[in-house]
Amino acid sequence: MPSSHLMRRLLDLPLRRKMILSFLAVLAPVGIVTLFIGTRLEHRTIINLAQAKVRHDLASAWMVYNERLNSIRDIVRLSASSGFVQAILLAGPQEDWVARLDALRREYNFDILTLADARGRVVLRSRRPGSAGDDVSTDPFVRRALRLELVAGTQIISRAELEKEGPDLAERAYFRVVETPMAAERPESYAEEGMMLKAASHVLDERGELIGVLYGGLLFNRNYDLVDQVKEIVFKGERYNGRDIGTATIFQGDLRIATNVLDAQGERAVGTRVSREVEEAVLEKGESWVARAFVVRDWYITAYEPIRDVDDRIIGILYVGMLERPYIDLRNRVMLTFGLLAALLSAVIMLLLSFIAKNITRPLRLMVEATDVIAAGDLSHRVEVGLQDETGHLATSFNRMADNLDKAYDDLRQWGRTLEKRVEERTRELREAQDALIRSEKLASLGKMAAGVAHEVNNPLTSILINAHLVLERCPPDDPAHENLTLIADETLRCAQVVKGLLEFARQTPARTAPTDVNDLVERTAQLLDMQASVRNVKIVKELDRSLPLLDLDKAKLQQVFSNLMINAIEAMPKGGTLTLSSRRSEDGPYADFLFADTGIGIPPENMNRLFDPFFTTKTLGTGLGLAVSYGIIQQSGGTIKIHSEVGRGSVFIVRLPLVSPVEGDRPEEVRP
Ligand SMILES: Nc1ncnc2c1ncn2[C@@H]1O[C@H](COP(=O)(O)OP(=O)(O)O)[C@@H](O)[C@H]1O
Ligand SMILES: [Mg+2]
Repeated sequence: MPSSHLMRRLLDLPLRRKMILSFLAVLAPVGIVTLFIGTRLEHRTIINLAQAKVRHDLASAWMVYNERLNSIRDIVRLSASSGFVQAILLAGPQEDWVARLDALRREYNFDILTLADARGRVVLRSRRPGSAGDDVSTDPFVRRALRLELVAGTQIISRAELEKEGPDLAERAYFRVVETPMAAERPESYAEEGMMLKAASHVLDERGELIGVLYGGLLFNRNYDLVDQVKEIVFKGERYNGRDIGTATIFQGDLRIATNVLDAQGERAVGTRVSREVEEAVLEKGESWVARAFVVRDWYITAYEPIRDVDDRIIGILYVGMLERPYIDLRNRVMLTFGLLAALLSAVIMLLLSFIAKNITRPLRLMVEATDVIAAGDLSHRVEVGLQDETGHLATSFNRMADNLDKAYDDLRQWGRTLEKRVEERTRELREAQDALIRSEKLASLGKMAAGVAHEVNNPLTSILINAHLVLERCPPDDPAHENLTLIADETLRCAQVVKGLLEFARQTPARTAPTDVNDLVERTAQLLDMQASVRNVKIVKELDRSLPLLDLDKAKLQQVFSNLMINAIEAMPKGGTLTLSSRRSEDGPYADFLFADTGIGIPPENMNRLFDPFFTTKTLGTGLGLAVSYGIIQQSGGTIKIHSEVGRGSVFIVRLPLVSPVEGDRPEEVRP
């Protein structure tokens, strides 16, 4: 599944990134929601602000409107009380009075200024003096003025009425209705009525009798004074990107009759109509309407309120609108600032997050590095324990683990060394055993030969010796042959001794064992050699372990061994020295060790291996049989012999004998002739 695959990849990210991502996962939605709500609120606030302003502007526009109405009312009232107006009514329209009334009309920018008599018949239309005599008593303004009321207000004027006042006015009021999207359906394609600001006042004579009515007015249609004044007063002519910010319009019904909203050609957009929506709210329901609206070609924030006539009927709309653009731009600027701030804040948060994450994950990273170092073989590496939190505990445990590893590794190495030593030892033992085997083979064959030779040579030697002695007895001492004969006898004796030794070596008679006190045997042998030792200036020292038990041995044979070793020791110390005889229990097993240590000349290493060979000797008169014979005897007794020697310092011969006599079968094969 791809989503689980993505999850997997997310989880596989480095710890630091993961932390930052999780922080962001929490922060981002909060930030986005805040940003969203913030911008919405901001938009709403700015639009509300603009709407409040446009409402206020509409109120200001009404003030301008009413002021104009008031000034019309005041001018009409004042003019009604002037003498020439009374005179016209009383004496008929004289030429110069007519001119004066028209001058008045022009001075105050009125479109009409008309006099009617007390019955409501027109006496004089200042704009069109020829048009008179018609009845205007049904006009609500005239009717009220005849009842002595001062009346001012807005009024819809029919085309016929306008034509009576002046065909140019009817012309001004005529509009071809411009097709306007969003406006309501309208059957007529033109409009010909006018809308007028109008005031009417009664005219009295000297005695205070009603003699007529004066009414004057201002036609709104295509008269832009008022809307431009609103624009000037309310919006102070402010412009934005070359456009007027504020606009004002007077609607007659739903039709724009005076406006400073411009169309696509830059002309005042008169003849266009209000949207159906506004028409319904303002014209039909009489409500004020404040909202953003698309007016002609721009979006405006607009306010519309109904204009009512003196009978409180809704006849038109007063409108002000502010270009929405400046507010939208303001909103965008605020939003941009807001966004930039948010981005900056996000960057700071990101930096902070990565800093925090880095610090939190640092101990773990160190630990990973430490693991690598240790894995590469540096077992002495440790991590520093920084904080006392979980990472601190981890570091402590990690170090403890590394300690244990280090120790275990050391033990292993130690063990390896021990093993090596053991192997060496075993190898040596094996070689010794092999050497011993070879030696006994050699001795066995040598023994056979020696026995044969000795046997053959012994009888002739005996007869030579006997005959030499017989001849010697008969030969007087002064005989010159006597000396030679003696030499023959001596040398023959020496030969006999060698032969005897050979026989001894070869014969190896079976052992006659008996429980023997070996210490005692050592002492008695030493005693026999006492003389020989003292002559050679050799001191004999004894360090015997008296607790040794009796050993089951052939006493005579063992004495021969001991005597051989002691004689060799004495002979190795030509200038005297010390022969130390000691005995002790072996530490390696059920053995007794007997040591013969001298302070003599020592044995060169190259001779070590040949010492036990028959006939190996370094002495002029030696037979080289002593150690060979001794070896055989010790082996027969189930023992071993070892030598430690150092040239110039002395030698130690160690005879090891078993404390318990060996079982018959285990004895090494005896060497027999
Ligand atoms: N204690 C010793 N110190 C030095 N060399 C010794 C000692 N014992 C034996 N030897 C050497 O061993 C050789 C062989 O000894 P052995 O078999 O008794 O024959 P021999 O004594 O007749 O020479 C000797 O010639 C001598 O070189
Ligand atoms: Mg000897």
